[in-house]
Amino acid sequence: LMPQDLVGETVLVTAGPTREEIDPVRFVSNYSSGKMGYALARAARLRGARVLLVSGPSALTAPWGVERICVVSAEEMRNAVLDRWGEVSIAIKAAAVADYRPARRSERKVKKADRESLSLELEKNPDILAELGLRKGDRFLVGFAAETCDLLENARKKMRAKNLDLMVANDVTQERAGFDVDTNIVRLLQPDGTEEALPEMTKDEVARHILDRIQSLRKGT
Ligand code: PMT
Repeated sequence: LMPQDLVGETVLVTAGPTREEIDPVRFVSNYSSGKMGYALARAARLRGARVLLVSGPSALTAPWGVERICVVSAEEMRNAVLDRWGEVSIAIKAAAVADYRPARRSERKVKKADRESLSLELEKNPDILAELGLRKGDRFLVGFAAETCDLLENARKKMRAKNLDLMVANDVTQERAGFDVDTNIVRLLQPDGTEEALPEMTKDEVARHILDRIQSLRKGT
């Protein structure tokens, strides 16, 4: 039986990729499937939380009992998250937000002309998690870091910069970890320097471990 230790909490989870449109038929995005975030949403719901799942485009169906808010771009994800921020007590940001978007979106399909190359100018997207870190209040804030090198150093830097209470460091170069697979291999980093390396497990199991850690940190045990 699941512990009902999240009754009374509103857990906001972000999941999936964002898509940044170039024109009506093309976009910039990444390989996130939503599996990690949806596993977190399902696990939190099973433990009694009210769950808001802000999801970028994903083929997955919403877990039972979860309120899903569908978004496409980083800008939409930011607006959806800030819109619901007042209700949230725990936020977990598993989404792979595009760091950059096309500086201009073309209203019409970009035509293949006689040119041999085409350059696309990108501009920075808002960093949603950093904004939440500034408006944290008494909420518990969890981030993910998807890294391809210097995992711990980069993840710690992001944890500090974004004012997080817990960071899930994800080396996405490992097979059976990261994007679009059912398993993951992560490390849980805390601001006090404590760190735990979890072995390979399913994303459902990773989600349970993350929730266990959140609860023990919130209770100070
Ligand atoms: O969806 P799956 O296929 O299951 O894959 C899971 C996953 C690999 C996407 C997931 O485990 C993961 O690592 N998610 C974070 C991916 C990411 O964008 O990491 P990052 O290091 O670029 O960003 C750090 C944190 O800041 C993340 O919590 C991210 O949500 C947040 N962020 C980043 C950029 C931005 N503009 N706004 C943000 O809020």
